[in-house]
Amino acid sequence: MTLLHASNAPAVSPADSLTIIRPDDWHVHLRDGAMMRGVLQHTASQFGRAIIMPNLKPPVTTTAQALAYREQIIAALPAGASFEPLMVLYLTNDTTADEISRARDSGVVHAVKLYPAGATTNSAAGVSDLGKCMPVLEAMQTQGMPLLVHGEVTDPGVDLFDREAVFIERVLQPLRRALPQLKIVFEHITTREAAQYVAEADGPIAATITAHHLLYNRNELFKGGMRPHYYCLPVLKRETHRLALVAAATSGNPRFFLGTDSAPHARALKENACGCAGCYTALHAMALYALAFERADALDRLEGFASRHGPAFYGLPVNTASITLVRRPWTIPAQLMIDDTSVVPLDAGMTLDWTLA
Ligand code: DOR
Ligand code: ZN
Repeated sequence: MTLLHASNAPAVSPADSLTIIRPDDWHVHLRDGAMMRGVLQHTASQFGRAIIMPNLKPPVTTTAQALAYREQIIAALPAGASFEPLMVLYLTNDTTADEISRARDSGVVHAVKLYPAGATTNSAAGVSDLGKCMPVLEAMQTQGMPLLVHGEVTDPGVDLFDREAVFIERVLQPLRRALPQLKIVFEHITTREAAQYVAEADGPIAATITAHHLLYNRNELFKGGMRPHYYCLPVLKRETHRLALVAAATSGNPRFFLGTDSAPHARALKENACGCAGCYTALHAMALYALAFERADALDRLEGFASRHGPAFYGLPVNTASITLVRRPWTIPAQLMIDDTSVVPLDAGMTLDWTLA
């Protein structure tokens, strides 16, 4: 049974059901081809919209490519599904201001992603010299096109666990001083420094937070041996950072919103001498977030984080439909067969308290 509150607060029964406005995923990797056709239903069954990451091989660097990718996604949706892919361009040293105008005019490209070259999966074509991108970033500021940043420096001299905090000083602060009205989403933040920066900075800045960074610290990578399905980038950090992320996500501050960073990789490429970065969470994303919010005694804040803050930042309407999560134990499958590729979801084999009704 669901208790309806007189206020705008989402309906939380003390017991067993939570109904919220249909959420959106503001950061997801769907890939393309058979993998995309296999994973899409997981995202589309929970979320009304999703920001689709452009780090394909080759990357989605033009509006024409984004339109073609969007068509592929729409063609793969199950009949009757109501899901809108929000497309993103992959910024390179050679992106032009004209491309930003074409993206804006398309009505379907909603952001541009900055991958520092070499920072993560399929980022080789990313930006090696942000200075070269200044005319494009100025055009984005003028046109209100958000820049989504993978916020890690790639300097090999910087400890892997410090790369996000150093990015704030070396890249983000100078960029924001130069272009104070550029809308920026600091993607998948993992540190106290990032949460604090986003909470306190002036101007249009927000951050996405993944379910896995709310639930786990870096110990999870090494519990009883190397556990590659907990390896993602930016990598999990210390417990103090996880606690800061939980505080930010459950604070009610509209600058923080949901972005799963669900990133499917073939099992053989994760369980590998040089395993790929990425956690597959699209399958059970809302149940994972509900768990994290419930542990913080903040289920009443889940709707803001998942369904309201993102659209407000992107200037889009809030979804009109709703979803209901019920407290029903559900065991996460050991693996998913996508075409003939095995993908291991986060927390495979574990039992979750919440299930999508
Ligand atoms: O863990 C990650 N996986 N982080 C990223 O930034 C990229 C993603 C992927 O595409 O696999
Ligand atoms: Zn990502």
